[in-house]
Amino acid sequence: MTQKEYLSLVDKLNYYNYRYYVLNDPIVSDYEYDMLLKDLIEVEEKHPEWKVAYSPSVKIGADIVDSINTVKHEVRMYSLDNVYNEAELYNFLARITRELGESEIYFTVEPKIDGAAISVTYEEGILKQALTRGDGEFGEDVTHNIKTVRTLPLKIEEKQKMILQGEVFISKKTFEVINQERKKQGLNLFANPRNAAAGTLKVLNSKIASERNLDILFYSLAYGYSSSSHYENLNFLKKLGFKVSNLIKNVKLADITDEINKLQSLRESLEFEIDGVVVKVDDINLRDRLGFTTKYPKWAVAYKFPPTQMTTKVIDVVFQVGRTGRVTPVAILEPVTISGSTVSRATLHNFDEIKRLQVMIGDTVFIEKSGEIIPKIVKVVKENRKEVKEITFPDFCPVCKEKLLMEEGDVSAWCVNSDCPARIKYSVLHFASRDALDIRGLGDKVVEQLVDKGFIKSIADIFELDEFKLLQLDGFKEKSVSNLLNSIHVSKNKPFDKVLYGLGILHVGKKTAEVLAQHFESIDKLMQANIDELISVKDIGEVVAHSIYTTCRLEKFIALVEKLKSFGLKFELEKKDIPNKLNGKNFLITGKLSRSRKDMEELIRENGGNVLGGVNKDLDYLIVGDSPGSKLDKAKKLNVKIISEDDFMEMIK
Ligand code: IVH
Repeated sequence: MTQKEYLSLVDKLNYYNYRYYVLNDPIVSDYEYDMLLKDLIEVEEKHPEWKVAYSPSVKIGADIVDSINTVKHEVRMYSLDNVYNEAELYNFLARITRELGESEIYFTVEPKIDGAAISVTYEEGILKQALTRGDGEFGEDVTHNIKTVRTLPLKIEEKQKMILQGEVFISKKTFEVINQERKKQGLNLFANPRNAAAGTLKVLNSKIASERNLDILFYSLAYGYSSSSHYENLNFLKKLGFKVSNLIKNVKLADITDEINKLQSLRESLEFEIDGVVVKVDDINLRDRLGFTTKYPKWAVAYKFPPTQMTTKVIDVVFQVGRTGRVTPVAILEPVTISGSTVSRATLHNFDEIKRLQVMIGDTVFIEKSGEIIPKIVKVVKENRKEVKEITFPDFCPVCKEKLLMEEGDVSAWCVNSDCPARIKYSVLHFASRDALDIRGLGDKVVEQLVDKGFIKSIADIFELDEFKLLQLDGFKEKSVSNLLNSIHVSKNKPFDKVLYGLGILHVGKKTAEVLAQHFESIDKLMQANIDELISVKDIGEVVAHSIYTTCRLEKFIALVEKLKSFGLKFELEKKDIPNKLNGKNFLITGKLSRSRKDMEELIRENGGNVLGGVNKDLDYLIVGDSPGSKLDKAKKLNVKIISEDDFMEMIK
C-alpha cells in the first residue's frame, strides 16, 4: 500500500463509521469493515510515520496517558438555571419577552441529556482537544478517551477553528451490559449511566473507554462559523457529520409546552436518559442582548422533570457516622431501578424524619430520586404492613462504640469522639475532595485502608504518608504511589479558602469559606475573631459564628492548623486570590447609575476588571444607566455587550 492509498483508506473507513454509527445506515458489512480496519492497523504498524491523528484506528483505544491535565476553557462552559413547573417556566419566558420587547421570539426545545458535559475543539478540520466541564472555567483534558467515541468525526470538512459543546452519555442498554459485566467480575457497580459516562471519561487507558461505547450528542456551537440561529448552527453541525438530536425543535413561545409534553412522554422510550428539557432562545443576537449571570445564560433554562417514584421495602436501618460525628439513619432497601439506576439505600436524615414518616423496618415505602440527591423515602404504605419492627436508635457509636451524645431538642445523635475512625475517614475524604484540596487518588477505598491500618489518625497525617506506607495498600504499585504522593504535594498550593473549607468546620461550606478567607485574609485573624466580629461578616449568621468560634478554641484544631502550617499549606490569602470574577474584562460606564461613578469603577477593579477610557474594539461591556451618552451608539456599532447596572451586580454577585 502506498501512503496515498493509506490516506484514502483512512477517509473511507471514517466515512463507513459515520454511515454506521451516526446515520444508522451502513453501506458495508461488519466483516468487510473489520477486514479493512485490520489492513489499516497493519500498515500503521509497518509505517508509523504515516499514521494520522484522525485514523479510525484510534477508535479502538490507542492512547494511554499518565495523568489527566486541567486546562483552561477557551469558551467558558456555563451551567443552566432550573425550573420545576410551568409557572416557573412562564416567569422565565415572561422575563425574556419583557426584556427583549419582541413578540416573535423562537425557542429551541431540547432533550436535557443526563450525561457529562464536554467541549470539543477542531482546528484545520482535525479533532484537537476535548475537555470536561470541570468548574466551567477549567476542565479536564480527556481527548484520548473522546477520540474513541464511534459517533464522533475525527476529521471534518470545515477548516475554521470550531469549539462545540455537547453531552457525553452511555445508553441505557450499554449501561446494563457494563454493570452485568462488572458484577461478574466482582467490581463496584455504576449507580447510573451518568456516573458511568463521567467515570469512563476519566480513565487513563483509552482502550477501556473504547470498550464502554461512549456516545456524544452536541447541543451548542460555541465558537467558529455561526449563523444568527442556534437551530441552524445545529443543522450545520449535523451536515458536518456530528450527532445532534433529532428531537430538538425550534418553535414559538405558544408551542413550548406542547413540545415539553411530547419529550416527557418519550422519556422512557429513549435510548439515553434525560432528566428534563432545555428551552433556549434561538436567535444569537437576542441571546447577546440577554447575556449571562455568573453561572447561567439568561437565555436558556432547564425544565426539570418531576422525580420518578417507585415502591420498595425497607429491609433494615443502619446508622452512619459522618465527618462531624452526626449519626444518620440509612434505610437499606430491596433494590429497585429508578430511571435506569439501581437504588438500594435511602437516607432517613434524623429522628424527626423517622417520626414524620412513621416508617418501620419491613414497611413498603415510596422512594423518589431527583438528580444528584440521594434517594429519599417520601411515603409509607401503611395498608401493606405485616411484620414490622420499630427503628431504635443506638446509644453507642456503631463504629468506635463510645457513648453517643444527644442534647435536648436535638434531632440527631452525635459521636463526640474525634478519634472515631468513621469521623477521621470522612474528614480526610472531605479534605481531599474536589472543592477542598482536590487530592486525586485519595478516594473512599484508599482512605478506608489508611485509617484501618492506623496510618491516618488526623488530616495532617496525609502529609506524612510515604512510599513505605502506601505500598502496603491493596493494588498500590510504584506508579500509583508516586501519583498519589505527587497529588498530595501539589495540593499544598491550594489557596487559603480551599484549605479552610477542607478543615471541615461545622456549617462552613465552600461559599462561607470563601467569604471568611476574603474577609479575614489569614487563619490567625479568623481564629482571633470574637463572636460579634464573626457575625458582622456578610452572610455569616449566629449559628455559623458560634461554630467557628468554638472550633477555633479547640486544642485539637489549633494543633492541626499548626501542623498543617508546618507542612507549608496556605493559611493566608495571596494577592492573586483577590476575586477575579470579571476575568480581566474591559468595562465602561455611560449614563446615570444608582451608585456613584467612583464606586462603580472601584467595584469593577476590585473584582478583576478594567475600566477603559473610551469606546474601542477592546471594550467588552458597556454599563448603561439613565440618559446614556454617545458611547452607547458607538458601542452598539462595535457589537459591544450592553448591560445594565443590575446585570453588572449579578456578574460580581
Ligand atoms: S445548554 C450555555 N443543552 O445540562 C448553555 N445543556 O444542567 C449550556 N445538558 O452542563 C448548556 N442537555 O451538561 C444544554 N440540550 C442541552 C443539554 C444540556 C444536557 C447538560 C449540560 C449542562 C447541564 C446543565
